[in-house]
Amino acid sequence: MSAATASRVLVAREVPGELGAHGGVSAAAASRVLVTGGTGAIGGAVVERLCRGGAEVVFTGRNRRRGAALAQRTGAGFVPSDLCEPGAPEAIVEGALGVLGGLDGLVLAAGVLHRAPLSETSDADWDTLLETNVVAPFLLARACLDALADGGGAVVALASGTAEWPEAELGAYSVSKRALLWLTRMLAVEGAVRGVRANAVSPGHTADGMGSSSVLGGGPIDDLARLVPLPPSGRYSTPEDVAGAVAYLLSDAAAGSTGATLAVDGGMLAALRAVRVRQ
Ligand SMILES: NC(=O)c1ccc[n+]([C@@H]2O[C@H](COP(=O)([O-])OP(=O)(O)OC[C@H]3O[C@@H](n4cnc5c(N)ncnc54)[C@H](OP(=O)(O)O)[C@@H]3O)[C@@H](O)[C@H]2O)c1
Repeated sequence: MSAATASRVLVAREVPGELGAHGGVSAAAASRVLVTGGTGAIGGAVVERLCRGGAEVVFTGRNRRRGAALAQRTGAGFVPSDLCEPGAPEAIVEGALGVLGGLDGLVLAAGVLHRAPLSETSDADWDTLLETNVVAPFLLARACLDALADGGGAVVALASGTAEWPEAELGAYSVSKRALLWLTRMLAVEGAVRGVRANAVSPGHTADGMGSSSVLGGGPIDDLARLVPLPPSGRYSTPEDVAGAVAYLLSDAAAGSTGATLAVDGGMLAALRAVRVRQ
């Protein structure tokens, strides 16, 4: 690793050696996991969940305050980094391998959302969405593949319901999430012969996180039910619901699943299909 790259990979807190058992994927969850977007709502819930299950976790994010607090709370290692900086994804993987000594799981939770139809999407916003939501996951997954193949590891990507039903006001975001879904399926196909699984989780609207903050625009959370229809389950999914699905797909319990998409949307996709059938 070059000096310039190394200076960006600052593990705020070393992962204690006694956390989690090395050597393959445990029944509870993959034991050594790199999580991107750990400073966000869903990524943070994933880090908490995996650490509670005994995994050793290294996570990334840009917000140093939130990252340091989560590292302190969970014992996970924090790599403050902007995934769109040249060389950053590869440096993150190198840093994580250095701390964890190997890798059993990769969770691609970092992402950005831009609320605009395609006709109102600037070149810069398009680039940011594609670089963050598609290019960085590709670079991270490619850099992890050999390490994951060593122990039969797993990749879980956070896609979105918009990968299934594109939303007009989320034009570039919908395109990027469909591309991420396809990236995941191609990883599943290529990884299968090396014992690596790759699956996607598609959250519906969570009460915390980017979906809500983008529609509320700083307004009160009480406005959410007026702005976003509740799914058939009668409640928005929580980041913890999504983290449970991620932990499952990383675990041996999902050994037979690769190239799959698990919706955590309270039945929203099923309901949309039902409406289409009625029409
Ligand atoms: N929440 C939902 O309703 C929902 C629904 C469907 C899909 N999803 C997907 O689930 C994933 C997590 O969503 P969320 O609600 O947890 O979002 P969030 O709270 O906004 O968190 C996004 C995360 O991505 C990180 N990130 C963004 N750009 C980055 C960059 N250039 N370099 C490094 N890190 C970057 C953020 O880091 P910093 O904050 O530190 O900058 C943060 O950790 C996303 O991929 C999203 O598309 C969410």
